[in-house]
Amino acid sequence: MKRNILITGGAGFIGSSVVRLFVKKYPAYRIVNLDKLTYAGNLENLRDVERAENYTFLRGDILDIELLATIFQEYTIDSVIHLAAESHVDRSIHNPDEFALTNIIGTIRLLRAAQAAWHTNFQGKLFYHISTDEVYGSVTSGYFTETTALDPRSPYSASKAGSDHFVVAFNNSYGMPAVISRCSNNYGPYQFPEKLIPLMINNIMHNKPLPVYGKGENIRDWLYVEDHARAIDAIFHSGRSGEVYNIGGNNEWRNIDLVKLLCQIMDKKLNRPEGTSGRLITFVKDRPGHDLRYAIDPAKVISETGWRPETDFATGLELTVDWYLSNTEWLAHVTSGEYLKYYDKMYANR
Ligand code: NAD
Ligand code: DAU
Repeated sequence: MKRNILITGGAGFIGSSVVRLFVKKYPAYRIVNLDKLTYAGNLENLRDVERAENYTFLRGDILDIELLATIFQEYTIDSVIHLAAESHVDRSIHNPDEFALTNIIGTIRLLRAAQAAWHTNFQGKLFYHISTDEVYGSVTSGYFTETTALDPRSPYSASKAGSDHFVVAFNNSYGMPAVISRCSNNYGPYQFPEKLIPLMINNIMHNKPLPVYGKGENIRDWLYVEDHARAIDAIFHSGRSGEVYNIGGNNEWRNIDLVKLLCQIMDKKLNRPEGTSGRLITFVKDRPGHDLRYAIDPAKVISETGWRPETDFATGLELTVDWYLSNTEWLAHVTSGEYLKYYDKMYANR
């Protein structure tokens, strides 16, 4: 079957992995990637598909309702995979308004554009919203399931929970065919180096301190980005409208243990004496309201779609480290200019 899919945020970390997968795997689909190219969006992430016949890139803002209407009409869009967002928790603590605008209002605008284009016939249509496990808050024991009550605790997670509620509301109030997935922490190539794993790799490469928040005891469940993209593919094709699917890697790590592991890997890769990178670890002031633990139960997506993570952590970390070591131009490009000012300001008070 032919599909005309609007992917938002396709020039970001996860979005570029999803665009790459869909463009290559489904030559009969038209993939339209709408991205504003904020500091986190980068067309270098998509060099290998940019000339593909079934791919179109449009630079634009999901807040621009007129642009959205034109795109739905011009490309007869029948499905949306919505990833565009402000995605970094630390930034949300400094600038919550921007997160509310992009993540909540932007999602509402996209829903309204889909509603306006599709309301006479919802047959064969799908609005797929990409959310996060952070909307469930922090869990000390057990796992988040799809029925866990939402308890967002940072401006970022509050804005994502807000957008989730609007997707549910459009499904419930207008019959919009919609599905939501909530994934744990992703890692892999092309992740902007403000997030834990690429930040540590980049700092080790440059012999800079490795800022571990608080005591480093917070726990995250890590999933390789291409496994997330495959889960999105599975849910897009066989998820049920009106449902939520949790995605995770069953791969929990305390931050400090993960940073120490990265230090060991990097010492070997850089031919440095064992223990060299570890000496860069610096415990800094904790993130305000820092959620202690995220942990996902992915049983539903596994049983309903047959998806499973394929990349074990040792392999995924090795692939990731190798990618950053051989893409120093990409790293230098994305960390130049504004980012450096942001980084120095962010870490000055820690
Ligand atoms: P990212 O920050 O790397 O990329 C976000 C992309 O959205 C960028 O390309 C940016 O230019 C674009 N964008 C931002 N505002 C826009 C706007 N107003 N209009 C159009 N484009 C805009 O984010 P990511 O880590 O790839 O996350 C993608 C999605 O997945 C987000 O919705 C995030 O909440 C969710 N998510 C992320 C993770 C993770 O670990 N990174 C885990 C679960 C869910
Ligand atoms: O769980 C899914 C979420 O994972 C996504 O929805 C978010 O978009 C994504 O950014 C990520 O959020 P986290 O806050 O968990 O990711 P981050 O990489 O910022 O931090 C991971 C952990 O490492 C967290 O406990 C904070 C800690 N940390 C982070 C940074 C950047 C440090 O100790 N030092 C650091 O410098």
